[in-house]
Amino acid sequence: MQILITGGTNGIGLAAAQMLAARGANVAIVGRNEGRTQAAAARIRAVAAAGVAVGTFIADLSSQAAVRKLAAEVRSRYPRLDVLVNNAGAMYTTRQLTADGIEQTWAVNHLAPFLLTTLLLDRLEASAPARIITTASDAHRGAQLPFEDLNAEHSYRGFGRYGQTKLANILFTLELARRLEGSGVTANCFHPGLVASGFNRNNGLLMSLAMTVLAPVSRSSEKGAETLVWLATSPQVAQTSGAYFVDERPAMPSPAGQDREAAQRLWDISERQCRSAS
Ligand SMILES: NC(=O)c1ccc[n+]([C@@H]2O[C@H](COP(=O)([O-])OP(=O)(O)OC[C@H]3O[C@@H](n4cnc5c(N)ncnc54)[C@H](OP(=O)(O)O)[C@@H]3O)[C@@H](O)[C@H]2O)c1
Repeated sequence: MQILITGGTNGIGLAAAQMLAARGANVAIVGRNEGRTQAAAARIRAVAAAGVAVGTFIADLSSQAAVRKLAAEVRSRYPRLDVLVNNAGAMYTTRQLTADGIEQTWAVNHLAPFLLTTLLLDRLEASAPARIITTASDAHRGAQLPFEDLNAEHSYRGFGRYGQTKLANILFTLELARRLEGSGVTANCFHPGLVASGFNRNNGLLMSLAMTVLAPVSRSSEKGAETLVWLATSPQVAQTSGAYFVDERPAMPSPAGQDREAAQRLWDISERQCRSAS
């Protein structure tokens, strides 16, 4: 079994890669820094079952050119791909634009998984049965998609923006599952719980301190990765698609996360946003 995991250098993605490799899956991770990526690969190899191949790819997912290059490399190295895990993600307390002119949270958390998935879709379909898993979050609750202010020019609050992108993960999964009906490829997403990872350690001392304060009530990255590993491997969910999971159980997303019309609209807009940056 060949699995590709973005955000495999730290936290939930690294823990999932280790758990999957320990069970005998060939795992490839995507990182944006060569040193961190090789160090993570060594940690995965250290716990991998005999014969497991651990691959690495380097891509800064905030850049659409880098995502396109990544997809081309994955296609040339892997004739089959059984599981794609869109896990990389972050929150930014200050608004920043990517080289493509797109607000960074939207670019990394939503457009990168959208573009990577669509570029690998025929490879996944040819490998069916195959699975696509996206790490979403309960932080989507209370968020609405900002169709009138997609680049967050008029209003930007770090956590609120993060919630919008996690809502986008859920709606992307909903529409993707609809498009994949009958293909043998499933698409699901999940909330990992509050996890003591590297999350929100990129936003200065105060935010880092807040994460340290939250650490005693947070779960480990291994615990946070359990639902991901289950979605990637369990026969129980082999036929399930378009669902949101918490702790290996289906959960209802917010009403905004069930809006099929918004999901289709988001898909069309995302296609345009990716076309205009290509
Ligand atoms: N932690 C939580 O409580 C929590 C709760 C709900 C959902 N989540 C979601 O879980 C996922 C994983 O987060 P985590 O908690 O494991 O955090 P983490 O420890 O910070 O890991 C995030 C991963 O994403 C990668 N990444 C970030 N920006 C990137 C970019 N521009 N290009 C390539 N890779 C990039 C990081 O790579 P580097 O090593 O290069 O930084 C790292 O491997 C995210 O989607 C997050 O939204 C987390």
